[in-house]
Amino acid sequence: MLRSTLIALSESDVARLAVTRTPLRGMSRRFVPGEGVEDLVGAIRQANAEGMSATGNYLGESVKTERAASQAASVYTGVMDQVQREALDANVSVKFSQLGQAISEEFLAETLAPILERSRRDGIFVRFDMESSAYTQRTLDAFEKLWSEGWRNIGVVLQAYLHRTAGDVARMNQLGARVRLCKGAYDEPAKIAYKEREDVAENFTALMRELIDHGNYPGIATHDERLIEATLEHVTRNGIPSDRFEFQMLFGVRRDLQRQLVDDGWNMRVYVPFGEQWYPYLMRRLAERPANLLLLIGSVVRESPLGFLWGGRDRTNRKA
Ligand code: FDA
Repeated sequence: MLRSTLIALSESDVARLAVTRTPLRGMSRRFVPGEGVEDLVGAIRQANAEGMSATGNYLGESVKTERAASQAASVYTGVMDQVQREALDANVSVKFSQLGQAISEEFLAETLAPILERSRRDGIFVRFDMESSAYTQRTLDAFEKLWSEGWRNIGVVLQAYLHRTAGDVARMNQLGARVRLCKGAYDEPAKIAYKEREDVAENFTALMRELIDHGNYPGIATHDERLIEATLEHVTRNGIPSDRFEFQMLFGVRRDLQRQLVDDGWNMRVYVPFGEQWYPYLMRRLAERPANLLLLIGSVVRESPLGFLWGGRDRTNRKA
């Protein structure tokens, strides 16, 4: 109930205005390092220094004008140039709906072109994030079209909560395409998606095994300790080396677990979102863990004139 309300709020313009004009904006720093490319690059440098690779995501989706889609594409090419210049260990994650898929598939191809050129020229991998089920087939079709045109430094995301995903995993494994596996972040109907946590976890585990056994360097994207343990148990039992897959987690979430996995010798990639459009992203992170609302309220109190009662500002940034 609270989760659905928060997801609905993530799509509400009224709520967006109310939240982005209050001190709640400071809370977003917990999950988004900032609005500019330099904020992203700072977070990537930090992740690299801690032995983690990164993926940069410029926040924004469902773009309706050519101007906004082209602007998003040029932010990505700027990020890729910076990654290349500094030899950072990072790639990018983009959303088709941010790059103009709603305008037309042809326009999407135009905005993608410079991003794909750089991926080929500089060897920077490009991941296509998966959005709500309204986009699943379109995203996979667009991906397969690019694949058939010979682009190889690209990959998709598949969501374990969708009933269809076992078939999509088999298809991507057959192509040899890199997949990020996640649970799925949108509110989907029971007709097409598992709604119970246990069912999602069971499907995730089965898909994880398929991807690790038969896929191409999958990204296991979760903060769920049971699923991380299931992955470690699977690879250890089958003698699968650590360079065959990577774990992925979101910036600011379970930093303790991120560090522990790195210390234990596993590959870890941090997904770092940045940009002005942090509001819907923040609401989705709250929906995943409504206890974050308490942290959010705490951060507002700390930033208020009575903040000293809570022991100063910014403690929320340190612990995931
Ligand atoms: P779950 O939500 O059950 O969380 C397990 C535990 O992790 C919690 O008990 C808590 O300890 C911790 N945790 C989880 N979320 C937290 C939060 N927000 N704050 C603090 N602690 C938290 N989805 C999608 O639909 N399309 C996509 O392209 C992507 N891409 C993507 C990339 C990466 C790198 C990650 C990690 C996730 C995504 N997702 C996504 C989001 C994903 O689908 C899912 O919504 C979240 O990862 C939450 O699910 P978990 O597997 O972490 O488990």
